[in-house]
Amino acid sequence: MELKEQLLNLKMIMFGGKGGVGKTSCAASSGIWAAEHGRNTLIISTDPAHSLGDSLGMELPPGEPTPVDGVDNLTALEINPKAKFAELQELTDMNPIKSLGMDGMMGGMMEGMLEGMMEGGEGGGSLSPPGIDEALAFGKVLEFIEKDHDYDLIVFDTAPTGHTLRLLSLPETLSGWIGKILQLRLRMGKMFGALKRMFTKEEKKEENPLELLKQMKDAILNARDDLTNPEINSFVIVMIAEEMAISETGRLLNELVKYDIPTSNMVVNQLYQNAEELCDFCKSRRGMQQKNLNKIKEIFQQRLGKNLIEVPLFKGEIREYTTLKEMGEFLVK
Ligand SMILES: Nc1ncnc2c1ncn2[C@@H]1O[C@H](COP(=O)(O)OP(=O)(O)OP(=O)(O)O)[C@@H](O)[C@H]1O
Ligand SMILES: [Mg+2]
Repeated sequence: MELKEQLLNLKMIMFGGKGGVGKTSCAASSGIWAAEHGRNTLIISTDPAHSLGDSLGMELPPGEPTPVDGVDNLTALEINPKAKFAELQELTDMNPIKSLGMDGMMGGMMEGMLEGMMEGGEGGGSLSPPGIDEALAFGKVLEFIEKDHDYDLIVFDTAPTGHTLRLLSLPETLSGWIGKILQLRLRMGKMFGALKRMFTKEEKKEENPLELLKQMKDAILNARDDLTNPEINSFVIVMIAEEMAISETGRLLNELVKYDIPTSNMVVNQLYQNAEELCDFCKSRRGMQQKNLNKIKEIFQQRLGKNLIEVPLFKGEIREYTTLKEMGEFLVK
């Protein structure tokens, strides 16, 4: 399906690729195009650099879906991946000692022992799994997608490659954490059950962070059903015509296949045009790009059957409505 059809029919489109290639610009311009073609559209970004707001030329208060000025049917949302979500606070400082109800001196002693027992115990003193903040932010995005909402289309501006891939395996990672923590609690519970009763005055009401973690995992697994359904979602790889980008794109495609994420369109961005108008420097860059573009066509179009969308290098920055709209026309051409 061509990108135009996808923007008109799918529920979700994700833009991803290497850093700086044009993911945010593509997401914003596609969002504008879809909204102007009658679809109630939400663009979501988890970039802590607030680049979506910059691209649209407006302030986006973190975590608040904000209507985009001057475009009907378009809302933008930035989620800070480092944000602490109140209801998940307990998870981000998850600590098996505390959750056993053993604070103070006893807790301190056991904490040392525990750290030895946890493999890969990075994060000095904190026993929460590494990267949990970002993972939870992504989980929030997926939960949001799963919730009932009025949007026809969600355009997702993803973080640069490595990051996206790590997050796609989130359900497994969460299972891993859950398993580890459960195991620990079981062991600690058995070993120190008697001590615990001695040292804690009253039985603490067990507000179980594991339950929350499990719920989130389920929400993510549901979201993954959607992410992997070609009638619902498609991942658009954005790249530039450089040798390094080709190998990186190959790896990204492999991962998408591994996680069953449908992908049919690829954007080759920032291509130099009209050779006659160019200076020597730019001519040489254009030559390099054309050589790589041919390779890209051979590998991704001919061999793998992807749709290639070529977008020219604009004279100026792509930013705010007019240039974003212009870029959108290339994307759906
Ligand atoms: N076709 C183009 N012509 C000219 N400038 C472009 C083009 N595409 C993107 N840019 C510019 O390149 C810069 C990076 O684009 P953008 O922010 O969309 O990339 P990104 O992939 O989202 O980056 P990041 O990985 O940092 O999130 C921006 O300043 C944007 O205006
Ligand atoms: Mg970006």
